[in-house]
Amino acid sequence: MSGQLDSLLKEERIFNPDDETVRNSNIRIWMDKHGIGDYDELLERARSDPEWFWDEMASELEWFSPYERVLEWEPPHARWFTGGRFNITYNALDRHVAGPEKNRVAYIWEGEDGSVRKLTYYDLYREVNRLANALKGMGVRKGDRVSIYLPMVPELPVAMLACARIGAVHSVVFSGFWAKAFRERAADAEAKVAITADAFYRRGKVIRLKETLDMVADDIPSLEKVIVVDRLGEDVNMVEGRDVRWEDALEGMSDECPCEELDPEDPLFILYTSGTTGKPKGVVHTHGGYAVGVSSTYRFVFDVKERDIWWCAADIGWITGHSYIVYAPLIEGSTSVMYEGAPDYPDPGRIWSMIERYGVTIFYTAPTTIRLFMKYGNKWPEKYDLSTLRLLGSVGEPINPEAWMWYYRTIGGGRCPVMDTWWQTETGMHMITPLPVTPLKPGSAGKPFPTVVADVVDDNGESIRGSGGHLVIRTPWPAMFRTLFREPERYVEAYWSTFPGVYLSGDVARIDEDGYFWIQGREDDVLNVAGHRISTAEVESALVSHPDVVEAAVVGKPDILKGEEIAAFVTLRGTVKPAPRLKGVLREHVRREIGPIASPSYIEFVEDLPKTRSGKIMRRVIKALIRGEDTGDLSTLSNPESVKMLEERLQTI
Ligand code: PRX
Repeated sequence: MSGQLDSLLKEERIFNPDDETVRNSNIRIWMDKHGIGDYDELLERARSDPEWFWDEMASELEWFSPYERVLEWEPPHARWFTGGRFNITYNALDRHVAGPEKNRVAYIWEGEDGSVRKLTYYDLYREVNRLANALKGMGVRKGDRVSIYLPMVPELPVAMLACARIGAVHSVVFSGFWAKAFRERAADAEAKVAITADAFYRRGKVIRLKETLDMVADDIPSLEKVIVVDRLGEDVNMVEGRDVRWEDALEGMSDECPCEELDPEDPLFILYTSGTTGKPKGVVHTHGGYAVGVSSTYRFVFDVKERDIWWCAADIGWITGHSYIVYAPLIEGSTSVMYEGAPDYPDPGRIWSMIERYGVTIFYTAPTTIRLFMKYGNKWPEKYDLSTLRLLGSVGEPINPEAWMWYYRTIGGGRCPVMDTWWQTETGMHMITPLPVTPLKPGSAGKPFPTVVADVVDDNGESIRGSGGHLVIRTPWPAMFRTLFREPERYVEAYWSTFPGVYLSGDVARIDEDGYFWIQGREDDVLNVAGHRISTAEVESALVSHPDVVEAAVVGKPDILKGEEIAAFVTLRGTVKPAPRLKGVLREHVRREIGPIASPSYIEFVEDLPKTRSGKIMRRVIKALIRGEDTGDLSTLSNPESVKMLEERLQTI
């Protein structure tokens, strides 16, 4: 990774989207309509009058009754589009069903086993309404939480929309998380109903999801009902009175369920993400501002039009999928590809073959996937016709210029601009991103989206240019999270207190002389493993929950493919032998506690960990050692000899 950082710091190439792309882009057409000469002029105008810009964006949506004010801002609390009535599902479904796009395909779904399902907007509408009625019948009311623990099947967006339709709050838990991680999230959300599936395929293996949920369901006191989707026809244990099959729940339900007319500020979903402590943060998003933010960024950044075939190859269990597989594409009436399985299964041609077969025009993925396919070599994409592609996107971690160039040339044929979009679970929508009208610098996420005031500051909060610092946002944006579920103080404390009234992203970035942002990674104790956000504290607490472990320190080890890998340093109980076999046991233990994504690639048994005099483990020191960087001031350590020992040990991994 330090090699990647070097190349990021030296990168000077610039690529311009071609004239035709610029001329036909949604953003250019919109600027023409408003008499705006170029993108910088738009940035300036939007910055001086953000409410004008967002009012314009909101006018693209349907409101049951118009809002009175665009924004009420009492830092750090924002309320957008107040006084109106709104429901995101009306915009995602009803208005299409009422129009000529009623029978347009909303999702082309492909299972890992090759099965295909196509759902039109009308299909989706009816299924959502039936489930919404079923949920109501189970006593789910406005404001109640529903946990959704589903793999990438069409029932996942259906479930989200059904909740939103009746004003219930969905909380999707990534299907790669295991029992305890699901329990922690569903119990925190006090979910009344959970929606899961019998099982799904991952790399040809059958993953039994309902069985996983059953291990912990009794420890979620609020849970009354479990709806089970039949994905693979597996035999599952059904608990009498609690569990009901999806088909049975929907049986006899009307395919009309009136849309709840909500306050735009009513919560739409809670999505748990990793913070600096072990306890996940329940990020809360709302109906109105979120709908406006995700639909406008989708329209302008990805330039999606009626005839496009859109594919965001993320999982809906993360924010990327919430915003850009479910809500934005549906609001905009797009046809999307949705894929259940691993991108390189059964062979590294899988995703390229899907692009060819479905004629995908716009493709959005993560740098880790791009680097994986770079490693497999050009022969795989070269086998397929990728000529339908016209625009590419990247998200989740910094993209190194080499990967950017490969993506641009080999996948995009040198004709597709690459949108490197920087944003977060908390921001809900793209914040810093190129557009198909802006010059592109490989490895840079470009400039902030219109109205977004992003900055890089030093420890005193002073703006700095040319070198790295804290990436902050100075003004509110409509898709911003409103709070952390049941932790309003943590919302203020974690994000808005370091620099009062300014949003602290947790990332380090640099702004160059053209005002382009270069994101360098996280500055806190959050890891970014293959684009997944994982907290070191969460992995540590999983490790120490094993009876053989006394203490654990987890740090990110730079990795060319995944960005970072998880490295754990563990001290064992006196009588326990540091046998190599135990490493496998601990890895499996973490898989079971959190999920496969959190399982450490490296585990080292050590006699001692570097600590301060007050006993706090100095992760910073271990992180520096593993990166071959200067360890800095060690005078506060109570056991400096542990550093020497670690250094020696690190020579061997
Ligand atoms: O470190 C940044 C990285 O992903 C983090 C946010 O993770 P999460 O909330 O899971 O959302 C991921 C998808 C939006 C950020 O703090 N990140 C995201 N996009 C980029 C990025 N780092 C560099 N460049 C990006 N384009």
